Amino acid sequence: MIEGACHFVIFGSTGNLATKKLLPALYHLEQAGRLPPDLTFFAFGRREWDTAAWNAHMQEVLQKRLRNFDAALFGKFCKRFSYVRGELDNADSYQELAYRLGKTEITTPSNTIFYLAIKPTEFGEVVSNLGAVGLNKDKGKHRIVIEKPFGDDLESALMLNERLHKYFNEDQIYRIDHYMGKETVQNLIVFRFANLMIEPLWNRNFIDHVQITVAEDIGIENRADYYDRAGALRDMIQNHLMQLLTLVAMEPPAALEADAVRDEKVKVLRSIRPIPRRAIHAQALRAQYGPGHINGQGVAGYQEEPGVEANSVTETYVALKLYIDNWRWRGVPFYLRTGKRLAKQASGIALRFRQPPQQLFRETPIESIEPNWITFSIQPTETIKAELQVRLPGLEMDTRTAHLNASYRMDSEQPLDAYEALLLDVVEGDRTLFIRFDEVEWAWRVVDPILKNWSQEREFIHTYPAGSWGPPEAARLFDSEDQSWRNEF
Ligand code: BG6
Repeated sequence: MIEGACHFVIFGSTGNLATKKLLPALYHLEQAGRLPPDLTFFAFGRREWDTAAWNAHMQEVLQKRLRNFDAALFGKFCKRFSYVRGELDNADSYQELAYRLGKTEITTPSNTIFYLAIKPTEFGEVVSNLGAVGLNKDKGKHRIVIEKPFGDDLESALMLNERLHKYFNEDQIYRIDHYMGKETVQNLIVFRFANLMIEPLWNRNFIDHVQITVAEDIGIENRADYYDRAGALRDMIQNHLMQLLTLVAMEPPAALEADAVRDEKVKVLRSIRPIPRRAIHAQALRAQYGPGHINGQGVAGYQEEPGVEANSVTETYVALKLYIDNWRWRGVPFYLRTGKRLAKQASGIALRFRQPPQQLFRETPIESIEPNWITFSIQPTETIKAELQVRLPGLEMDTRTAHLNASYRMDSEQPLDAYEALLLDVVEGDRTLFIRFDEVEWAWRVVDPILKNWSQEREFIHTYPAGSWGPPEAARLFDSEDQSWRNEF
């Protein structure tokens, strides 16, 4: 754990990410009394502002975004901030930054976080400028935080990584995937490895298949310039859904430490069977939403969204079937699915168990009883459930499904939001929930062949009406007729 006075520099301090996520999260941490007293922030920006003007801007941003804005608390929060005027591509600005960081040093000389809330195309420039003034060194306590997308494909990710590694060691780089900060996601580790009754069943002998769904009802929210180039496979599958998959599938780590956990996650990614070219259509499906209705309101189709290129074939929906070729999972299909403008927000993980070896309560296998499920709801609710069969009261020996709801949080317990939890980890220097480069690399190795194939076969894209559960063709991915997508978790 990194202790002592800490400086936290925000690049892109007036940008979208800082405004929407970072500043509100830091404010909430202040409100919860979770920010260490000797943590100070430096907002780095282009505008001709001083600290008072920055604070006025921040006040406006937070007042607009937060329902529980409190002027007295803001007074305390903004005392932590200084504004540093500078240009991302101007070496002199970094001299000024280094001087300002040095000038306000309190006790330890080297504990600085650089949060790159900027475009990935600007990462390289910023790290080399930090390196030029020596802000990358100092006993490894200087660290950078970066957001996805980490590259557009395998090749660009490798190149970007090489550039970062010229100046920062891997253990100084915190790659954020905000799904790793979500309560249910972290609970997966506890649920699996703190309950002896679960782990023995968690394998190919008992699990029929696994489903991971991140369904959103929102569209692309004025982000066409980014989204139309990215698409759902890059935006969601390569990172968030792959991370969820690693936590479901990984072996118990040797310890709950950053590298021990990440070693196990990488082993899963490396074991994913590459999809051969001829099987891409059978294992990967993409689609785009057309006009439709969400909550009774008419919504535009993707092609009509402002900023989307005419005749764009960018996918807003992806369904995938993957196999993990290892001792635990060989032969068990993992179905992954994500989409925008689906019927409702519903994200979760579901594991279906195999049928009992003998059907005592049904005459034919066709009428077989409902199988057991374990489901983890990630959003909008946070729950873990098990579906078991119980006897239906009456004269017959019949069964019905009972739901065991393993609620893991009292109503009075407020978990930190994903960003808040991860930001505290950065401050404390805990890398367990951050993504190591080999995870990024192996996740790209899984999706890269699909991307390449799709870029060559532009015409193969399905459509679905906004407000539906996606294209009916997604059912074709299933290995057997009794499998189907779950929309409730
Ligand atoms: C982001 C994607 O990483 O995750 C967005 O870029 C997506 O397109 C978002 O909407 C989903 O996050 P959450 O936490 O709302 O599920």
